[in-house]
Amino acid sequence: MEYLFDTANLEDIRTYGAIYPYTGVTTNPSIIKKEGKINFFEHCREIRRIIGDDRTLHIQVTALKAEDMVKEADAILDKIDGEVFIKVPVTEEGLKAIRALKKKDIGVTATAVYTKAQGFLAMEAGADYIAAYFNRMENMDINASSVIGSMAQMIRMWDYKTQILAASFKNMAQVNAAFEAGAHTATVQPDILKTAVNMAAIGKAAEDFAKDWRSVFGDVKIYEME
Ligand code: E4P
Repeated sequence: MEYLFDTANLEDIRTYGAIYPYTGVTTNPSIIKKEGKINFFEHCREIRRIIGDDRTLHIQVTALKAEDMVKEADAILDKIDGEVFIKVPVTEEGLKAIRALKKKDIGVTATAVYTKAQGFLAMEAGADYIAAYFNRMENMDINASSVIGSMAQMIRMWDYKTQILAASFKNMAQVNAAFEAGAHTATVQPDILKTAVNMAAIGKAAEDFAKDWRSVFGDVKIYEME
């Protein structure tokens, strides 16, 4: 079970990276848009500098035609680094691009996945990750847990190396449901992750323990005791 950050915000990656266990960063053109008209390649290189080489960085192509997707992937790998996972929407052109990229042994994250069929086809095309769009499925009255569960079952049954990277979350209940359904990883905006440990009851419990300690020992910390 792994968490990734679904953001391109450098400050958020630095701040929340020191708090939450995370194994990578995902972006898409809409996430990049939130950062304004940045120097795209330099910004992505800075994300890599922050997260280091041991975490995964997933960057999406913007083209709609397979040939252009592959050219964009080549530019991303050339100008950012060769370890980036290229996110490709699972359309017909996307499947064509995924197969071409995997022929060149390039890491691929199949994205914009709403259906079991898209997931199964992406696995068979060789995708390393499948970004299953949890909230967007729910918005369309598609049972997201069932879709993820079926993909997880196929991966186990046929021993695919593909991992399910659940995405598109609006709350932690959806993230937990994705893991329970069999997702290996989930990419989550830090604002949503924060809600997991920022409930009033959790803060109060910590404060009550501190208060009980102070009532006996005053402001002396454990590391100050003989
Ligand atoms: C990440 O890989 C996805 O592109 C992202 O989670 C989609 O999120 P959205 O449905 O909020 O746009």
